[in-house]
Amino acid sequence: MSPLTFRNANEADAEGIASVLQELVAAGKRQSASDSEFARAHYITHSNNLQCTVAEDEDGNILGFQALILAIEDNPYGAPVGWGVIGTHIRPTAARRGIGRQLFERTHAAARANNLEAIDATIGANNPEGLNYYEAMGFRDYRVSDGAISKAFRLR
Ligand SMILES: CC(C)(COP(=O)(O)OP(=O)(O)OC[C@H]1O[C@@H](n2cnc3c(N)ncnc32)[C@H](O)[C@@H]1OP(=O)(O)O)[C@@H](O)C(=O)NCCC(=O)NCCS
Repeated sequence: MSPLTFRNANEADAEGIASVLQELVAAGKRQSASDSEFARAHYITHSNNLQCTVAEDEDGNILGFQALILAIEDNPYGAPVGWGVIGTHIRPTAARRGIGRQLFERTHAAARANNLEAIDATIGANNPEGLNYYEAMGFRDYRVSDGAISKAFRLR
């Protein structure tokens, strides 16, 4: 695989991030919004965004990204206030090449830098690749709700 660059997302990445989400929709791995406005609002300019890292190939194509958001009061994820909430999306054509693992190295460092107690990953119970990925990164089950399993990565 050609060398990848890992860097913080900026507003110009909204189309690239949306295109990753759209490829996941086309592969039947995502049902939610996937347009560039959603990508910008949700992952790039979100007020509680701690970090969003993109993985980019030599031609400037975004192959995947990982977001870390601070859980505030009444957050939609049901995560404990003060924890981080993580989301990871890799193009199906770029999956299982270690991109998710490399993204988590950066996210883990950001979580430590922000002195987070833990990170929540909430995954559909019918998503074995997501469950296996987070398990492999060191997340462990701590909550089950409405067809979703929440895993926690403890930092302290
Ligand atoms: C789940 C996902 C993030 C994994 O990203 P990835 O870049 O393919 O992961 P990596 O190649 O870095 O894999 C790291 C480890 O995770 C586990 N893993 C990843 N994909 C897996 C799969 N399909 N089946 C089983 N284990 C898997 C493995 O332990 C793997 O290590 P190994 O390849 O040395 O065995 C990616 O497939 C994806 O974006 N899926 C669709 C969106 C999604 O479900 N996101 C998670 C919920 S937000």
